[in-house]
Amino acid sequence: MLVVTELSSDPTAGAILSHLGLPTTLDGAGARLWMARPGAAAGSPAAGFAVRWTSARRHWLWLHVVPDQRRQGTGRALLAAVQTEAAVDRDWRLVDAVDASDRDWFVRHGFVSWGEVYEYAFELEASAHAMERLWQRLKHRIPAQADMLSLEQAQGAGWMPDIARLQAQAVGGLPSMVLERIARAHRTGSDEGVSLAHSLVVVLDGELVAFALARFDTGLASWMIDGFYVAPAFRDGWATLWLRYELVQTGLRLGRTKYYRVRARNDQTNTLAFARRMGAQAQERRYLVEALAVT
Ligand SMILES: CC(C)(COP(=O)(O)OP(=O)(O)OC[C@H]1O[C@@H](n2cnc3c(N)ncnc32)[C@H](O)[C@@H]1OP(=O)(O)O)[C@@H](O)C(=O)NCCC(=O)NCCS
Repeated sequence: MLVVTELSSDPTAGAILSHLGLPTTLDGAGARLWMARPGAAAGSPAAGFAVRWTSARRHWLWLHVVPDQRRQGTGRALLAAVQTEAAVDRDWRLVDAVDASDRDWFVRHGFVSWGEVYEYAFELEASAHAMERLWQRLKHRIPAQADMLSLEQAQGAGWMPDIARLQAQAVGGLPSMVLERIARAHRTGSDEGVSLAHSLVVVLDGELVAFALARFDTGLASWMIDGFYVAPAFRDGWATLWLRYELVQTGLRLGRTKYYRVRARNDQTNTLAFARRMGAQAQERRYLVEALAVT
């Protein structure tokens, strides 16, 4: 017997949200938390969680069923609990991108896909070669006052809230998830979640120009660029080239692998055009989904 309980006012709710890497407020709205359990017995383990933040603009939703508890109606029961009193008054958006089979599940439950996040694989040597002439031609355009910082230095300079917010907008997820990965990297000294030393940030005259969040994925034996953001006023110019050039040079210098991968949303045309020029194949696709309000 599946039991869904709202835990929002439970004293453990804050600890559960923090364990899940989720914020207690989003867009100014407090989190409400539901837990599904396979039985009513005290202490029976959680089968899944749903979290809803209802801001002035939309409902944000995070829904997760424990993998070995799936296909037993838990997802549907959690969604029903979350949507009862709050279904149609404003749009719903998932806080993170999901894979194709999860997207299909959400589509069957009234959602549509509004964006795609691609993952491309590149060879470091080939990218360095392809960029060299352009780099020699354009490197003098980098303004003398422009600065390139590591993520750790950027954190020290107070850039982290902006970076976390822009990263979440660019490829899905929540700012708090980025901040949590950064905090974990400090605690563990590992660059599996995000590399504090090799993620790069470009600033100019007190303005955030661009950043790339890099990590080393041991499973794939590849550097992974999880986010590549360039501010609108600087797109397709020196900042994009500088960041890309330094990332590739760093990858070559460190010598841990011949490859790197880049995640980009389908409307980040610069990265996609670069991938096409390099003949890179999309390795993985994830989907951003939403459900529009019935007006
Ligand atoms: C998508 C997700 C929520 C679905 O959860 P789930 O518990 O497997 O969902 P359900 O069991 O309710 O539904 C799955 C299917 O199982 C089938 N099913 C339901 N009860 C069943 C039962 N008792 N026996 C066999 N099959 C059953 C249904 O046919 C259902 O099909 P439908 O999709 O047409 O409704 C889950 O896969 C998940 O958590 N994925 C990860 C999502 C994620 O990335 N979240 C973070 C970002 S928000």
